[in-house]
Amino acid sequence: MSDISQIITADRYAVAGNPVEHSRSPLIHQHFAQQTGQGVSYSRLLCPMDGFKAHIKAFAAGGAKGCNVTVPFKFEAFELAARRTARAELAQAANTLRFDADSDGGWLADNTDGVGLVRDITLNAGVPLAGQRVLLLGAGGASAGALGPILEAGPAEVVVANRTVDKAQAIVDRHAALAAQHGVLLRACGLDQAGEAFDVFINATAASLSGSGVPVGPQVLKPGALALDMMYGTAAQAFLDWARAHGGVARDGLGMLVEQAAESFTLWRGIRPDTAPVLAHMRALVDGHSAH
Ligand code: ATR
Repeated sequence: MSDISQIITADRYAVAGNPVEHSRSPLIHQHFAQQTGQGVSYSRLLCPMDGFKAHIKAFAAGGAKGCNVTVPFKFEAFELAARRTARAELAQAANTLRFDADSDGGWLADNTDGVGLVRDITLNAGVPLAGQRVLLLGAGGASAGALGPILEAGPAEVVVANRTVDKAQAIVDRHAALAAQHGVLLRACGLDQAGEAFDVFINATAASLSGSGVPVGPQVLKPGALALDMMYGTAAQAFLDWARAHGGVARDGLGMLVEQAAESFTLWRGIRPDTAPVLAHMRALVDGHSAH
């Protein structure tokens, strides 16, 4: 089949958000589609701040098969679906919708962010989470999406530290049963009570965006600890510099981005793409951009 006829007959997907123009998801999914021979076209869908649900319904009514959802609509996406995966229920937020017909049970909401993060840490970075002490910084949607899959990886302890302690406590309470099931010590605290010498430190706050620096001291890092920021490109740079300056192994969120996309693609298409060449390509692109 030629490229043109493939586009005409392709199943349509998009990433929905506001803003969304800088999203790398279309490029990532284009790679996946080529690699697996799937007839998929994937675009950006800018949704009005007060009209997300109507916009998505119109997109689906036009024949689209599903979408990814990014800031600030992950909570509304969760509400839109008739069915939710267990990990989306725990996060109370969805980054993936599959527009299943009503006869198939209706739309399915999933949250692939956390499993993407865990796959990036354990498979791409080669750092085990089992038996380790993990510090998760932040208690917004990004943190909520990550916690369930982190617990399922079987760490010894997870501390959720946040500026607003109540929000960290709410996430921890929601995940208490899962933590107990996996034998994980789980607690919530403020930024000054985070503790020290963690094996893995994950920054899921928006602090780097506001330029206010890393909101905990370097004592949180054990020498050689993995320090990962969910952002990438210039937004992650200050965190990466901080991590390296304090003896950590720095990692940005690009691998997580590619892995969560692969998980969504798998949910939609029933075939798992190989992420390694796509991550290498994206890495070259992002590093090339930040060098200029
Ligand atoms: P997201 O969905 O990306 O997680 P969010 O729900 O707005 O975004 O959450 C942002 C997170 O970054 C929160 O944990 C927030 O802390 P609060 O819950 O106390 O607001 C955290 N955050 C943002 N700016 C911060 C800063 N300058 N210092 C520390 N934490 C910050």
